[in-house]
Amino acid sequence: MITKPTIDRIMEATDIVEVIGEFVQLKKRGANYVGLSPFANERTPSFTVSPVKGIFKDFSSGKGGSAVTFLMELEKFTYPEALKWLAKKYGIEVEETVEAPENREAENHRESLMIVSGYAAKFFHESLLETDEGKNIGLSYFKERGFSKETITKFELGYSPDQWEAFTGQALKEGYQQEFLEETGLSVKRDNGSLYDRYRGRVMFPIHSFTGRVIAFGGRTLKSDKNVPKYVNSPESEIYHKSSVLYGLYFAKKAIREEDNCYLVEGYADVISVHQAGIENVVASSGTSLTVEQIRLIGRLTKNITILYDGDAAGIKASLRGLDMILEEGLNVKVVLFPDGHDPDSYVRLVGTSAFKKYIADTRKDFILYKADILLKDAGTDPIKRAEVIREIVESIAKIPDSIKASVFIKECSYILKIDERALLSELNKMRMAKAKKDSQQQQHQQTQWPAPVDEALLYEPEIKEERDDSSQEKEIIRLLLLYGNKMIDWDGIANTYIGPFMIAELSDVDFEHKASKDFVELYRKEVENGVLPDEQFFIHYPDKEIVDLTVTLIATKYTLSENWYEMHRILVPDEQANMKATILGAIFHLKKQKVGKILESLRNELQKTESETDQEILLNQYMQMKKVEKTISDYLGSVILK
Ligand code: CTP
Ligand code: MN
Repeated sequence: MITKPTIDRIMEATDIVEVIGEFVQLKKRGANYVGLSPFANERTPSFTVSPVKGIFKDFSSGKGGSAVTFLMELEKFTYPEALKWLAKKYGIEVEETVEAPENREAENHRESLMIVSGYAAKFFHESLLETDEGKNIGLSYFKERGFSKETITKFELGYSPDQWEAFTGQALKEGYQQEFLEETGLSVKRDNGSLYDRYRGRVMFPIHSFTGRVIAFGGRTLKSDKNVPKYVNSPESEIYHKSSVLYGLYFAKKAIREEDNCYLVEGYADVISVHQAGIENVVASSGTSLTVEQIRLIGRLTKNITILYDGDAAGIKASLRGLDMILEEGLNVKVVLFPDGHDPDSYVRLVGTSAFKKYIADTRKDFILYKADILLKDAGTDPIKRAEVIREIVESIAKIPDSIKASVFIKECSYILKIDERALLSELNKMRMAKAKKDSQQQQHQQTQWPAPVDEALLYEPEIKEERDDSSQEKEIIRLLLLYGNKMIDWDGIANTYIGPFMIAELSDVDFEHKASKDFVELYRKEVENGVLPDEQFFIHYPDKEIVDLTVTLIATKYTLSENWYEMHRILVPDEQANMKATILGAIFHLKKQKVGKILESLRNELQKTESETDQEILLNQYMQMKKVEKTISDYLGSVILK
């Protein structure tokens, strides 16, 4: 466990804008910052960060919380992982209470998988640099490929000995559990239950997460035997989802942001060679076709992608359609083709850094024009084929969300395709209309969740019509506790009390139903019993996701329940703080009234079902009593509010 003082120090040092700014481009808007949600695909920013409160709120996905919550959501970190990440960033030493050795990998499942992967990377790296076999076979291979010592260290390249159990045996001996070795795919289970090494005799490329932890491996064979797969990769696991990982991104992200461009290559070796040549903004999709998740990963850092292709025509044509996806995400795509037989790795080693850069600058072509070029060459003079090509090109252009950009492409294509610009435009408009129709149908479908704020000025009070479900009165109580719990209230000069403890005492007979609300009130009660008045920050940083979620949602959005209630009674309360007494009592008694209403309802149900007269009498009695309670509450509410 990380100690409380350490947690406090981390919280103090953490600048939420700086932390989130590493992942999301933020722009200052008044007291807050806004950006595009990293959790949802959106074009209008609804993701807001409040440096003052130390919270973020994403109105697209509904997620919200502290810097810690953000890292947990985005990087799928556990709570301690997120804290450690922040500690590292801010140079804070982490104090942990000592744990028994058997707890080593018990922290949780994902953490265990990462620990095993990290251990494996170290094992392979050491066997590359420190064993005879590693040096003779692995290291000499890398040297031959031109990888420098620094590069090998930076990318943590390794070698897996050509034995059945070199790695597995050592890992088990050091206490790593079979379960995790198997799940990461580092070891494979035999029929008899024992484990053997997956990557025997291969050079190892560890795959890092966005934050630099090893989550998977690619192992390349050194044999030229066609029957042996060239690469063996980690299977999907809880820490490795191939479709949302880009090889090299951890090492490239800073340069991608600085250069405002990302080079996309195919293989591990390409990333490493190009990076070593000083072009660090390079990542690989690792041989599979690009996914939307991968594009969005890049899109958070830059809107410009340059794809560096091997000079293999068949492969290029096959991938053309997939690239429309990048356009759809609003990114600009350029394409560079290398001379036949070359990939970025071999080409940069052949010509050197500056010639490589020059080649890219000279030959890079916008994807759409490039596509037009290739397809037209293919179609030759056949008019039917040419018409098909035109349709396909316009289809790509129609995917570009920015209409000015799209019309520039239309112009250029009309020139290349030798077609009247107006004909292209009308085709484009047709496709646009069809798309708009489809989008609006989809949106209607989705709009039940969190609509984005209408206006950025409304950042902290977007017009969110919360569903008036049973939990809304409970949430109103929580909201008031959060905002005013540690403030004093003056009961008409009779007494001064703190609002929080007062409310808690008043609500001691109320059973909260909504789980997060119940937990919240319980927590508040405990703190009060310990003589502490918890404030907003206490709950924002509380290590329970549900509590944080509830807190941030209530702080970040103007909760409209009490207003609805006042409205219903035609009472105008422009500012809840102006009449604190009415606000607090109104909320408490409104909740009580709701609970009483529920009791009444269930009594009515029972009454209907009961046939025995005595039972009916008892129930009726209870019912009348509850009715009285209800009336008292109503009267009370009326008098308090009207005063
Ligand atoms: N790949 C794979 N499995 C294979 C072949 C390829 O996973 N059997 C992936 C790897 O991520 C590889 C990428 O596809 O890096 C590109 O493949 P390729 O061009 O064949 O490999 P290179 O990385 O260029 O490897 P090398 O230069 O060592 O041949
Ligand atoms: Mn290659």
